[in-house]
Amino acid sequence: MLRRAGARAWWGFKWSAAGLGTSMAALLMTAVGAAVAALSLISVGLFAVRPYLWLLRCLADLERRRLGAIGEPVPSPYMESPKTLREALRTVVADPTVRRDLGWAASHGTFGLLVGAVAFQTFPNAVRELTTALWWRWVPPGEATLFNDLIAVDDQRTALLGLLTGSFWALLALYAVPWLVRLQAMPERRLLGPESETDLTARVAELTATRAAALDAHAVELRRIERALHDGAQNRLVAVAMLTGIARQTVRDDPGNADEVLGRAQDAAETALAELRGVVRTILPPVLEDRGLEGALSALAADCPVPCSVSVDVSARCPASVESTAYFAVAEALTNAAKHSGATETAVTVRRTGSELVVEVRDNGRGGADASEGSGLTGILRRAEALDGKAAVSSPPGGPTTVEVRLPCGS
Ligand SMILES: Nc1ncnc2c1ncn2[C@@H]1O[C@H](COP(=O)(O)OP(=O)(O)OP(=O)(O)O)[C@@H](O)[C@H]1O
Ligand SMILES: [Mg+2]
Repeated sequence: MLRRAGARAWWGFKWSAAGLGTSMAALLMTAVGAAVAALSLISVGLFAVRPYLWLLRCLADLERRRLGAIGEPVPSPYMESPKTLREALRTVVADPTVRRDLGWAASHGTFGLLVGAVAFQTFPNAVRELTTALWWRWVPPGEATLFNDLIAVDDQRTALLGLLTGSFWALLALYAVPWLVRLQAMPERRLLGPESETDLTARVAELTATRAAALDAHAVELRRIERALHDGAQNRLVAVAMLTGIARQTVRDDPGNADEVLGRAQDAAETALAELRGVVRTILPPVLEDRGLEGALSALAADCPVPCSVSVDVSARCPASVESTAYFAVAEALTNAAKHSGATETAVTVRRTGSELVVEVRDNGRGGADASEGSGLTGILRRAEALDGKAAVSSPPGGPTTVEVRLPCGS
C-alpha cells in the first residue's frame, strides 16, 4: 500500500516536472518563433528559420517521448528535415505538421504551463508545509507561510497547522497530479500526433503487415497440421493396413494366431483415432465450443501441473476466432509456466474492457522469458496481430512473468 502510494507520487512528480520543463521550453520557443517571424520581415530572421524549425522538432519529439511514457505512444509524423532555406520556408507554408507544432508550442507554453505549474507545486508545498513546525523559527518573520501565502506562521500552533495543509497538498499530489498530468497531455496528443490522413497511411501499412503475418501464421498452422497428420495418424493407419494384411494371411495359413495380429491391428487403429482426436483438438478445441471460454480455460487450468486460478469476467461470448486465439495463448503461456518458470502459482484472468477482450496469464516463477528463443511466444504475438490485437510479455529476471493479450471483439 505504502509502496504503491510512493510509486504513484514518484510517477506524478517525475512527469509533472518533465511536463513543466517542456512547457517552459515551449513558451520560450513561441516567443523565439514570434521574434524570428518579426525579424524575417526585414530579412535578418530568415537565416534563423531552419535552426528554429530543427529545434522545434527536437522539442516536439522530446515531448512525444514523454507522452509515450505516460500513455499511448505518439508517433513522429515528420517526413524529412528541410535541407535548404528555401525548403524550410516552403515547409513553413505548406507542411501542416509545422503549423501543428507551432500551435502545440503556443498551447503547451500557456495551458500546459499553467496545468504543469499547478500540478508540480503540490510536491514542494507538501514537503515544506509538513515540516514548517520544525523550521519556521529560523527564518525571518513573515517568510514562513502556509497554503500559498494565505496563512502567516508566527507561533507554534499555526506552524502545526502545516501538518493539515501539508497533508492536503500530499493528497493532491497523490490523487490529483496523475489526473492533471493526463489533462495537460490531452491537447498535446491531438496536435503532436499524426494528422488523420497520415494516420490512415500508417494504418494501411500496419494492416498490410498484419495481413501478411496472418497468412504466414495460417501457412505455419497448415504445415503443423500436415506434419501432425503425417507423422501421427497416417503412420498408425499404415500400420493398421499392414497388420490387417498380415491378419488375412494368418487366417489362411495359421488361423490360431490370427486373433493376436487382429488385436494389434485394433490397437493401432485406436491409437490412430486418439492421435486424430488430438490433432482435431488443436484446430478448434471442441471444449471451447461446448463449454465456452470460461469452461475451456478451467479445463486447461485443471490440466496444468502448476496450481492455477482462473477468473473470467465476460458476460457475452466473443467471436470464435477471438476465443480460440485467447485459448491457445493461455494454453501456451501455461505450458511455458510449467516448462520453464519453476513457478508455484499461476493465474489466468480474462476481462472485457470496452470493445477489447483482455487475457492475462501470470506466474510467480523466475522470469527471463525471451520470445526469440522459441516459437511459442512468437506464435502468441502473431496470432494476436492477425486479429488486429496486441500481445505483450513482461518477464524481468527474477519474475514474475505476465503474458497479456488484447483482442478486439466488436462492441
Ligand atoms: N513463464 C516463463 N518463465 C520463465 N521463462 C520462460 C517463460 N516462458 C518462456 N520462457 C523462456 O522463453 C523462451 C521462449 O519461450 P517459447 O514459448 O517461445 O519457446 P519454448 O517454450 O522454448 O518452445 P515452444 O516453441 O515449444 O513453445 C523459453 O525457452 C524459456 O527459456
Ligand atoms: Mg513455449
